[in-house]
Amino acid sequence: MEEKKEIVREYTNGEITIVWQPKLCIHSTFCWRESPEIFNPEKRPWVHASDISSEKIIKQIERCPSKALTYYYNGRKDENLKKTETPAVAEVQIEMVPNGPLMVTGHVKIINEKGEAAIRYNTTALCRCGGTKKPPYCDGTHVKIHFK
Ligand code: SF4
Ligand code: FES
Repeated sequence: MEEKKEIVREYTNGEITIVWQPKLCIHSTFCWRESPEIFNPEKRPWVHASDISSEKIIKQIERCPSKALTYYYNGRKDENLKKTETPAVAEVQIEMVPNGPLMVTGHVKIINEKGEAAIRYNTTALCRCGGTKKPPYCDGTHVKIHFK
């Protein structure tokens, strides 16, 4: 049977390319709430990068907990695909996303109910609605169940 091709979209400002994989998005809303001039779900295309600085784009992409948004420097795609993993910040921050997950920013060790540990970098979304199928992580279910 032929495998269904995954949707991957790319947008560039000339220096870097934003890679968007909708299937991975868990609807944390960080991107469009924090940088509406770049990410606007009401518009088509929903990503606008042409006159935005690479620094600003990268800063926002590093907030994406699901890696639905990544980036690479143009001409250096292979070596930069993992660029979203930045060094740990000294202070761990936990934010409540309205009607959504708990967002943990920083380098943390998460131990699940079986005692298995995972190290997470950058931003990690933890389920707050109780509906996730990938506990303790948010998988976007809060949107489907209209969590408030
Ligand atoms: S998971 Fe990433 S792409 Fe999806 S809304 Fe959140 S920041 Fe945006
Ligand atoms: S908060 Fe996102 S799945 Fe529960």
